[in-house]
Amino acid sequence: MSLIKIRDIKRTYNEGTEVSLTVLHGIKLDITQGEFVSIMGPSGSGKSTLMHILGFLDSPSEGTYEFENINTTNFTENQLADIRNEKIGFVFQAFHLLPRTTSLENVMLPLMYAGVPEKQQRERATKALEMVGLGDRLDHTPAQLSGGQQQRVSIARALVNEPKVIFADEPTGNLDTASSYEIMSIFEALNKQGKTIIMVTHEDDIASYTKRIVYLRDGNIERDEINKKPKSAEQSLKAYKAKHKDQ
Ligand SMILES: Nc1ncnc2c1ncn2[C@@H]1O[C@H](COP(=O)(O)OP(=O)(O)OP(=O)(O)O)[C@@H](O)[C@H]1O
Ligand SMILES: [Mg+2]
Repeated sequence: MSLIKIRDIKRTYNEGTEVSLTVLHGIKLDITQGEFVSIMGPSGSGKSTLMHILGFLDSPSEGTYEFENINTTNFTENQLADIRNEKIGFVFQAFHLLPRTTSLENVMLPLMYAGVPEKQQRERATKALEMVGLGDRLDHTPAQLSGGQQQRVSIARALVNEPKVIFADEPTGNLDTASSYEIMSIFEALNKQGKTIIMVTHEDDIASYTKRIVYLRDGNIERDEINKKPKSAEQSLKAYKAKHKDQ
């Protein structure tokens, strides 16, 4: 089933001024439910801009966007906020967790905004943290967690609303090898359960775990390829741990 269908998407910054800059030049992209996609390309090629538009954090200057077969082009700010809150989870390179706030509270936050009763907030946030292997870190603040653990909290936060799709912008960009494999194996498991995952990365190795790779260059899609043999992050993590167990 079609999840995302965009046509002729353009994004121009400072539109109408003398120094306007067009960074997406008419993108066409279809993503169906259950895909696991990476978006690659050089710095400045428009990856984050595209991801922000796909996640309704930003609006295109031109073009159409159908999400679940509904044309969102003329949606109001409130309608866009509703889709964002109900259907989409975000994971960022720099985690974006609230400091001096526990893992549990960070993950409860989206549920609080959604008006879920507190007892349920707790239960669902605990479950999401258990899913990412942090059931024993509920009361830790970000400063008391490693980078990989902080990123897992941010994945739990992205998941807790049961979104249709998770967008991740360089989710492993700040992490060491083992933590990167951990993050990728969580995405892999989520994708096996049917979750759509779309992530930006500039690392070939990270992209090789995903099932489709879209290459951007200068604001255009240069290539769009199926990865016939995605690597298994779960296996890579096991192999890495076995090799480094004495260190
Ligand atoms: N708010 C903004 N105002 C003006 N120009 C912007 C803005 N945001 C991004 N740009 C420009 O748009 C272009 C694409 O930026 P974008 O952040 O999408 O690139 P990227 O592919 O994500 O790069 P990176 O790999 O470095 O994260 C860049 O030239 C950037 O300078
Ligand atoms: Mg970027």
